[in-house]
Amino acid sequence: MTTRTSVIDAGVVTEWARSKRHTGQTELSACRRLRALAASVPSGQAIVELGVYRGRATGWLLLGAQEGHGAHVTAVDPWGMRRDHYSPYSGTYSHPATYQAFKSHMDRIDAGPEVLTVKRGYARTTGAKWRGPAVGLLVHDAEHTGAAVAADLQAWVEHLADDAAVVVHGAAEPGVVAATARVLGTGYTAGWRYTGPDGWSYDEPVLIPWTRRPGRRGLVVAHRDPALLRPATPAVEDDPGGEEEAAPADEGPQQPEPADGDTGQGQAGSGREDEPEDAWS
Ligand SMILES: C[S@@+](CC[C@H](N)C(=O)[O-])C[C@H]1O[C@@H](n2cnc3c(N)ncnc32)[C@H](O)[C@@H]1O
Repeated sequence: MTTRTSVIDAGVVTEWARSKRHTGQTELSACRRLRALAASVPSGQAIVELGVYRGRATGWLLLGAQEGHGAHVTAVDPWGMRRDHYSPYSGTYSHPATYQAFKSHMDRIDAGPEVLTVKRGYARTTGAKWRGPAVGLLVHDAEHTGAAVAADLQAWVEHLADDAAVVVHGAAEPGVVAATARVLGTGYTAGWRYTGPDGWSYDEPVLIPWTRRPGRRGLVVAHRDPALLRPATPAVEDDPGGEEEAAPADEGPQQPEPADGDTGQGQAGSGREDEPEDAWS
């Protein structure tokens, strides 16, 4: 018996001609960033996407994972299970055709079960039940209210790898940046570096705006860095016969440093991201 091996079709995933691109709500610059981040996730860690819709970003994550170390992608969305009106697009999200469009896109890009697990469910309950490997990349693009983002992230934070990255999409919505700060923490001693739109690192979440429409979509990108958690003052060891020396000054990062793990390949002003949201329901 042969095991099927998916080869994600990069041409289909990255097609961005207006009439041919796969419908979705993630802008091109964000898709490219997700691709680069997914490529840096080790094979033994998981990539988890919360809020999938028709699978546009899922395709970019799968492509990045394939180009990198082959980390497995888990995509979580309630699709038709969720019927309340929490967004202008909730009717679209829960429409049966949306899940069908997701499945068709996954078939078209050749995403089989060896590379992708699909969970029809909620971010919080899936997080509470997670028994998979440590999560190296967590992407949140579910309900974009501060309360929902905080609760969803809280359910996943214990599963994050020591060197995980977290991306929160829809971060231009009110309360989302603050919710991310509440859960992950601020100040480098919280162990996180946040990428700014300039590519530098900050000690609190910074919105990376969608250049075409800065008031909508947008990202927060966070990198967990265990080195930031080291004690501020190194222990002084006994030095028999010698005099006690003052401990060296802490050289922890005081200045912003260039971000790693993403390419910063933003498409500022490319003019190609200005697509209307899906309006059918
Ligand atoms: C903005 S869309 C996602 C767009 C998608 N990332 C893309 O690339 O087009 C939001 C999605 O979140 C899903 N969603 C809503 N509540 C959720 C929850 N509690 N957990 C997970 N997903 C949820 C919706 O069903 C919808 O498909």
